[in-house]
Amino acid sequence: MTWTMAARMERLPKQFFANLVARVSARVAAGHDVINLGQGNPDLPTPAHIVEALRVAALDPANHRYGPFSGLPDLKRAAASFYEREYGVKLDPEREVAILFGGKTGLVEVSTIYLERGDVALVPDPGYPDYWSGIAFAGADMFGLPLRAENGFLPNYEEIPEDVLRRAKLLFLNYPNNPTGAAADLAFFERTAAFAQRHGLLVIHDFAYGAIGYDGFRPPSFLQVPGAKACGIEIYTLSKTYNMAGWRVAFAAGHPDVIRAINLLQDHYYVSLFPAVQWAAVEALTGSQEAVRRLVATYQRRRDAFIGTLQAHGYRCEAPRGTFFAWLPTPGGMSSAAFADLLLDQADVAVAPGIGFGQHGEGYVRVGLLTDEARLTEAARRIAECAARL
Ligand SMILES: Cc1ncc(COP(=O)(O)O)c(C=O)c1O
Repeated sequence: MTWTMAARMERLPKQFFANLVARVSARVAAGHDVINLGQGNPDLPTPAHIVEALRVAALDPANHRYGPFSGLPDLKRAAASFYEREYGVKLDPEREVAILFGGKTGLVEVSTIYLERGDVALVPDPGYPDYWSGIAFAGADMFGLPLRAENGFLPNYEEIPEDVLRRAKLLFLNYPNNPTGAAADLAFFERTAAFAQRHGLLVIHDFAYGAIGYDGFRPPSFLQVPGAKACGIEIYTLSKTYNMAGWRVAFAAGHPDVIRAINLLQDHYYVSLFPAVQWAAVEALTGSQEAVRRLVATYQRRRDAFIGTLQAHGYRCEAPRGTFFAWLPTPGGMSSAAFADLLLDQADVAVAPGIGFGQHGEGYVRVGLLTDEARLTEAARRIAECAARL
């Protein structure tokens, strides 16, 4: 027997990068020494004190039962104290924090909750493709906000057509930005809050790379600006700050109505995360932050080695201000897919073509700085030599 899937499944965007993953695997299987910088999976382990907190909590039978719906109050309090300590933002743990199964889940949930057919969600272009999934599920329309180098990869709200703005309900943003590595300052977030309030938009600021800023730059939180909580939420994942991508833990913070709606939807899908994972997350957020400082220093050394080597070989590119990605213009205006193919075939380096992040990603490739400095230096040398032969 076969069953047709609901139309909402057919609407899901195609996984652009699946093809790249298959090609890399085939090349590795054929014996090539591929340096794979195409993905965004942190390569370093979770700090030991967090793993230890999981071990201790996993041994406690109290954590083997269903946890409370909407998560442990202790984790919500930990999230609130983290925001107060890191950003000076006060949150009511019960009303303004929702525990999520990773940031990705929360991003899809918000679209499911708020979008109807005919509504529009504004998304960054280029941007993280998972914003598109919830919008497609809801049957809503998406409008890409071009992120251009000349604007520091910030959107220009003035360019949004009037008829799009009338139907727009959600505004997704992400700084430090995947894939461009660009950062936003508080002045941009102030403009965003004012714009959102003027047009009745709900802002979803994806702060996945909040901890990763370079040269002493500390990426600000959207919630730091006055009025942000009245028009939005921020989604903070532990995946990148604490190398916990496999643990699936994040939280949303901000407008109490949105937090209540997320909890309501989650009551129907789940009970809550394994309580031992939540206790480990409490340790991550409230314990020593020394490992985070070391991690950022490691990424900065990698960035400097990679970008420095490219530039020394005459490749024109800029260093990212945050995230663990470098966003490289393709040489001579070559298409992003053609350059990515060329790098894989001739240099054994895998990168993500910018077109996979939206039409304004064309002309760039994204490099994940997720291997050690020696390999990154070698990758930069191979990329630059390949580009020089064109
Ligand atoms: C911009 C951005 N947002 C969200 C996520 C999702 O993070 P997670 O689902 O692991 O919390 C990622 C992961 O790569 C990301 O790059």
